[in-house]
Amino acid sequence: MREPMDLNVRPDEALLPWVGRVRAAVVLGSGFGGLAGAVTDPQVIPYADLPSFPHPSATVAGHAGQLHLGDAGGVPVVLFQGRVHRYQGMSALDAAYPARLAAALGVETLIVTNAAGGVSPDLSPGDVVLIEDQINLTGDSPLVGWPGPPGGVPFVPMRDAYDPELRALALQVAAEQGMVLHPGVYTGLLGPAFETVAEVEAFRRLGTDVVGMSTVHEVIAARALGLRVLGFSLVSNAAAGVGLSHEEVLEAGAKAEASLSKLLLAVLARL
Ligand code: HPA
Repeated sequence: MREPMDLNVRPDEALLPWVGRVRAAVVLGSGFGGLAGAVTDPQVIPYADLPSFPHPSATVAGHAGQLHLGDAGGVPVVLFQGRVHRYQGMSALDAAYPARLAAALGVETLIVTNAAGGVSPDLSPGDVVLIEDQINLTGDSPLVGWPGPPGGVPFVPMRDAYDPELRALALQVAAEQGMVLHPGVYTGLLGPAFETVAEVEAFRRLGTDVVGMSTVHEVIAARALGLRVLGFSLVSNAAAGVGLSHEEVLEAGAKAEASLSKLLLAVLARL
């Protein structure tokens, strides 16, 4: 018989001093890499130096792969600059590795960020969406083959996967900072092709506000491991927009980065 799949990971040697010392994890999506500058005096560890970190052979511009460990907003954090995508040929379990490692380091809260295509006609490039809920249309899950927690079952509740208290906190902090947050639903797709016009219309009818190719597997694994989750999408383009390029995705990120960075630091300080 095969070994049962293990959702838990063992942190590599270089991370052992940090086990139990970090309170929150932040996964930075395309174009958010600069937020890593918010960590004071960080220890920076390239993913390449961590033997257990899944390493896709296809790398994508704008997805630098390194960990930043240190204080942000007065809270000890681990920041994942760059993520692993299912479309890079990795499994959903590998795509969820940052969430699984965060749990192994002992964090309570996972903050996920991503660049996404706007599906709601109310959204424009540069807008920041507070993710209220997700629709996983990848057809895959990091929990496939998982027997569940010891003595339990693998059927993880996904109601309120994005923590209502943390969402309320984010809205409050944003209001205090004069920043507009758009609550919305994130639909996760496999990619890597962008969507057709018919697909975008279908996803809109399903209740999608933004679409992207990441995040949903991390959030499923995080909930299975008992982490509280908060998520933000930066609208980088209109989904199925004309002339969409990866450069535009990175550019929109650079513009909203300063306000999102300020928001995240204030949220971290109040966790
Ligand atoms: N579609 C899917 N993923 C994306 C998009 C998009 O339009 N923009 C950024 N990530």
